[in-house]
Amino acid sequence: MTILVTGGAGYIGSVAVKKLIERGFNVLVIDNLSKGKRELVDKEADFLKGDILDKSFLEEVFSKSKIEKIIHFAALKSAGESMNSPETYSQNIIGTINILNKMVEHKVKDIIFSSSAAVYGEPKREIIEEDHSTNPINFYGFTKLESERIIDWYAKLKDISYISLRYFNVAGDGGLNYIDPNAENIFPIIGEVISQKREKLQVFGNDYKTKDGSCIRDYIHVEDIVDAHMGARLKGRPYYKPRNIKRSICLRAH
Ligand SMILES: NC(=O)c1ccc[n+]([C@@H]2O[C@H](COP(=O)([O-])OP(=O)(O)OC[C@H]3O[C@@H](n4cnc5c(N)ncnc54)[C@H](O)[C@@H]3O)[C@@H](O)[C@H]2O)c1
Repeated sequence: MTILVTGGAGYIGSVAVKKLIERGFNVLVIDNLSKGKRELVDKEADFLKGDILDKSFLEEVFSKSKIEKIIHFAALKSAGESMNSPETYSQNIIGTINILNKMVEHKVKDIIFSSSAAVYGEPKREIIEEDHSTNPINFYGFTKLESERIIDWYAKLKDISYISLRYFNVAGDGGLNYIDPNAENIFPIIGEVISQKREKLQVFGNDYKTKDGSCIRDYIHVEDIVDAHMGARLKGRPYYKPRNIKRSICLRAH
């Protein structure tokens, strides 16, 4: 079975590819290397440089390989940047539609989609369960929610099986010594302060309802995210249930 991993040269994708190879899967990675690095892709995986916005590239990928499942990581991920460049970030939705259309044409039935906790916006409850209402407060979150909805419609109309995983902030190293140069979460920033690339850690916010007024964020280790992908059994409900990390990942399945 060949698993197509979009964005497999990126932070999370490269760890997922490594794990898939370790488990004996054939893996084909596609990535435009706009953010990812070729050297992060496991040498056992096939790699094609290209863009999911390029339909003829996708046609080549789908017609030449016997793809059975897709793990779809490729996207732009900066919430702040998305507010300045909705015209660029809308490619998250367009790329997802392109993948879905190729799935239909080539009868590929299973997809795992990297969604985000950004679909929730301001949470109403402390513990965010899968059925918590969605109301993104940035364009990035909107692109993820729209992509989820479009995948859901394709599932209903075209008999596609999917799981959307709504990750919170992903942290940690998956064994590839990768430090995300574009990360906007606290761990790489602390690392930069320790290695003296950055002078200090700036704490934002002082009026949250917490002891010191600063905000609380949820983190999940990159290996836990990858394990969730490994456990996300398509065709039916996932058997993976996060243990003790209820706040860090939500699953939607069809
Ligand atoms: N890192 C997090 O904290 C986090 C949290 C929630 C959701 N996510 C989602 O997880 C996925 C992976 O995130 P990541 O942290 O590994 O990001 P990343 O930027 O390291 O990886 C994304 C990869 O996709 C590639 N890519 C982007 N646009 C592409 C396109 N049009 N065509 C082909 N390749 C393209 C990039 O080159 C990169 O290698 C993304 O969809 C992101 O939105 C990440």
